[in-house]
Amino acid sequence: MKENLEKKRFQKNPIKGTKYTIAISSAKGGVGKSTFATNLAIALKKIGCKVGLLDADIYGPSLPKLFSINGKPESDGQSLKPITKYNIQCMSIGFLTDEQTPMIWRGPMVTSAIKTFTQKVAWKDLDFIIVDMPPGTGDTQLTFAQEINMDGVIIVSTPQEIALQDVKRGIRMFDKLKVNIIGLVDNMSYFIGDDGKKYSIFGEGGVKKTAEEFKKNFLGEIPIDPKVGQQGDLGVPIVEKDQYHKISKVYLNFAKNIKDKYLKL
Ligand SMILES: Nc1ncnc2c1ncn2[C@@H]1O[C@H](COP(=O)(O)OP(=O)(O)OP(=O)(O)O)[C@@H](O)[C@H]1O
Ligand SMILES: [Mg+2]
Repeated sequence: MKENLEKKRFQKNPIKGTKYTIAISSAKGGVGKSTFATNLAIALKKIGCKVGLLDADIYGPSLPKLFSINGKPESDGQSLKPITKYNIQCMSIGFLTDEQTPMIWRGPMVTSAIKTFTQKVAWKDLDFIIVDMPPGTGDTQLTFAQEINMDGVIIVSTPQEIALQDVKRGIRMFDKLKVNIIGLVDNMSYFIGDDGKKYSIFGEGGVKKTAEEFKKNFLGEIPIDPKVGQQGDLGVPIVEKDQYHKISKVYLNFAKNIKDKYLKL
C-alpha cells in the first residue's frame, strides 16, 4: 500500500528523482526564507531523509554563500549534476555564474531557468526537494504553482505588519493557484536579551493571527539569535554546526512534523 502510494507520487511529480517538493515562500523579502530553507533541509537530513535543496532565487541566489559552495556543477550535455554538500543535493543559478555578476534576467528567462532546474537536473533518490523561493509573487512562484506539482508551501514571515501585508498577498496567490499551504512560520519573532527578558522587536502574534484569519496552520516561532546569522555567513548553517543548539531543536521539530506528514502514509 505504502509502496504503491509512493510509486504514484514518483509518477506524478514532474521533478524526477524526488518523492515530494516543498517550497519555502513569503511574498516579503528578507524575512528569513533562505535561512529557513537551508536549516530545514539539514534538519530533515539529520532525521534520516534524503534531501535536495533548490535555490529558485534567480536574481539573488543565496545557496552558494549559505552552504559555502564554490564549485560548478558537472554536465554530461543532457543534464546538470547537483553539487552535494552536507549530504544534500544542491542546485542554484549561483553555481553557474560568478558572485559579482548581476542577474539581469527577464521573466521568460527566469521561467526557463526554473524549468532547467526542475527537469534537467539529475536529482537522485530523494525524499524531499526543498525549494527556496525568491521574494514576491512573480514568475517563479507562478511557474512552480502551474507547472510543477508542489506538494506544499511553507510561508515564512516576521510578525511585522509591513511583512504580513505582503504575506497575505502571497497566501491569496497560492490559494487561487490551488497550492497546498502547509502552514505559516513566525521567524525572528522575539529576542531574549542578556538580561533574560523577551523583546518582541517586530511586534507579537502577527503571524499566528494571520494564520487564523486565513484558516491556515500556524507551525511555530523561531526567535532571533545572532548565531543563526553568523553561521549562515560562515556557510555552515546552525543545524549543521550544532544540532543541539536551541534553534536547531526548533528546526528538527519542524522537520520531524514534515517527515511524519509525508513519509508515514
Ligand atoms: N532566526 C533568525 N535569527 C537571526 N537572524 C536571522 C534569523 N533568520 C534569518 N536571519 C537573518 O536575516 C537575514 C535575512 O535572511 P534570509 O536571507 O534567509 O532572508 P530571505 O527571506 O531569504 O531574503 P530574500 O527575500 O532576500 O531572499 C539574514 O542576515 C539572516 O542571517
Ligand atoms: Mg532568500
